[in-house]
Amino acid sequence: MTVASANRVMLLGAPGAGKGTVAKGLSDRFGLTHVSTGDILRKAVAAGTELGREVQSILAAGHLVPDETMIKLLRDRVQEADCRLPDGTPCFLLDGFPRTSGQAEALLRNGLAPEVVIYLEVDDDVIVRRLCGRRTCPGCGNPHHVEFAPPAVAGVCDRCGVKLVQRPDDQEEPIRRRLAAFASQTELLVEWYGDQIERVDGSMPADVVLATVVERLSGKVGLALI
Ligand code: AP5
Repeated sequence: MTVASANRVMLLGAPGAGKGTVAKGLSDRFGLTHVSTGDILRKAVAAGTELGREVQSILAAGHLVPDETMIKLLRDRVQEADCRLPDGTPCFLLDGFPRTSGQAEALLRNGLAPEVVIYLEVDDDVIVRRLCGRRTCPGCGNPHHVEFAPPAVAGVCDRCGVKLVQRPDDQEEPIRRRLAAFASQTELLVEWYGDQIERVDGSMPADVVLATVVERLSGKVGLALI
């Protein structure tokens, strides 16, 4: 597949496939604006906003937030200046959106569809191990792992020094629901995006996964991004 000057990249993968980890690496490296719908929702919950109160129990249980709420949230977020090139072209890195065919259709209708989709493929047993050991920074969202990415100082974020927490949805029951939601509502997007999809083995070590994604994107993302 050859896409000249793509401005919008999407990371697709099951919960725990490594989307957030790759996104942080890509945005550090290329200055791409990382739009994580999960991070936006968790911030709303932490701040106790109306949206946060509406979605708190949905997130904790591992269900998907309704399309109507998510589409509005995404549309508002990508209106912001850091998601636009100087000429107004929408330009960002999507992590966690779209998750349903309704969300993918909304992107298309609004001229926001991704031009390159990186699909991180990881087996469910690896995912469960990753999610059970994940510790997240409530400050910057940087993901750590007790086994695979331990912080230099136990329990403290390497990047901003805030105390790490375990997400409420990183327990066995919600993990099972999140995997089921991915299988029934999100995995079909692999077919939807067809030859825009770049498959990457997400079970490799994190630095190898990032290097592979960077290599797949080179020559595809516009110079404005790099
Ligand atoms: P969201 O925050 O998007 O969660 P998710 O898709 O379940 O993905 P995760 O954040 O759990 O995993 P990840 O793929 O980012 O992996 P990570 O890099 O952290 O969404 C949360 C919830 O919000 C949803 O369940 C839903 O309720 C709601 N929501 C959000 N968007 C929505 C939408 N569009 N529609 C409806 N509802 C929506 O890595 C995981 C762990 O593994 C980390 O500890 C990391 O250090 C480690 N790790 C990563 N890569 C590797 C590697 N290669 N090798 C070893 N360890 C690794």
